[in-house]
Amino acid sequence: MNTNLRKANILNPLDTLDDWINEVTASNTQPNPNCMSIATVDSNGCPNTRMVLCKELNNDEGYLTFYTNYSSIKSEELENNSKCSALFHWDKFGLQARLKGFVKRCSDSKNDEYFSTRDIGSQIGAWTSDQSKEIESLEKMGESYQIIMDKFQIKSLEEAKGVNIPRPDFWGGYDMWIEEIELWKNQKNRFHDRIKFTRKIRIKNGSIDAEKRWNSVRIQP
Ligand SMILES: Cc1cc2nc3c(=O)[nH]c(=O)nc-3n(C[C@H](O)[C@H](O)[C@H](O)COP(=O)(O)O)c2cc1C
Repeated sequence: MNTNLRKANILNPLDTLDDWINEVTASNTQPNPNCMSIATVDSNGCPNTRMVLCKELNNDEGYLTFYTNYSSIKSEELENNSKCSALFHWDKFGLQARLKGFVKRCSDSKNDEYFSTRDIGSQIGAWTSDQSKEIESLEKMGESYQIIMDKFQIKSLEEAKGVNIPRPDFWGGYDMWIEEIELWKNQKNRFHDRIKFTRKIRIKNGSIDAEKRWNSVRIQP
């Protein structure tokens, strides 16, 4: 990780991002090496950020996927304005990746498949939480969790391992299609190493036509 970024060696910046995520994951130095902030824009034009987990990075097509509640504030903002930005930062490694693009809801089948891989406690949590809405107390949240346990006739999470819970239709993922990515590497004297990559994505009759070739420019620290 100490070498400089070489523009000519990076044909696809998402391969580099993938390498970085894998390297940080392998180092076992942080609980969520795949976390990133996602910025959306609210109805007043104000940016709004929060962390989510990047659950898939498709280097070849050029999108990443995160999962959430489709009634949450972020989803409401993404339904109004699909443009968003994402940021990864691994302080210990002196690395940052800054992305811009737009999101598209994942298909029901992709959502179902991913939901089925989650542990049962998180599946029930997804059913329970009306994410970002006000609740009067933590106790009420616990009661709601119990109501969902009863709904699916689950007595304890331990006993329920392997039980199949369907995905709530208000829960799923977004594919973020990446149009711009800047790779940033910390260097001595704040003389940081930065390369910005861009490409065009066209949407034709609802289907996405993303250029495979990335243009790159080196930018000043
Ligand atoms: C490390 C970390 C990972 C998170 N991952 C997710 C996630 O994958 N999906 C999600 O909906 N919220 C996740 N959250 C919670 C969000 O940051 C946020 O609180 C929540 O999604 C509500 O955001 P909203 O009100 O803007 O919709 C995570 C929080 C942290 C700190």
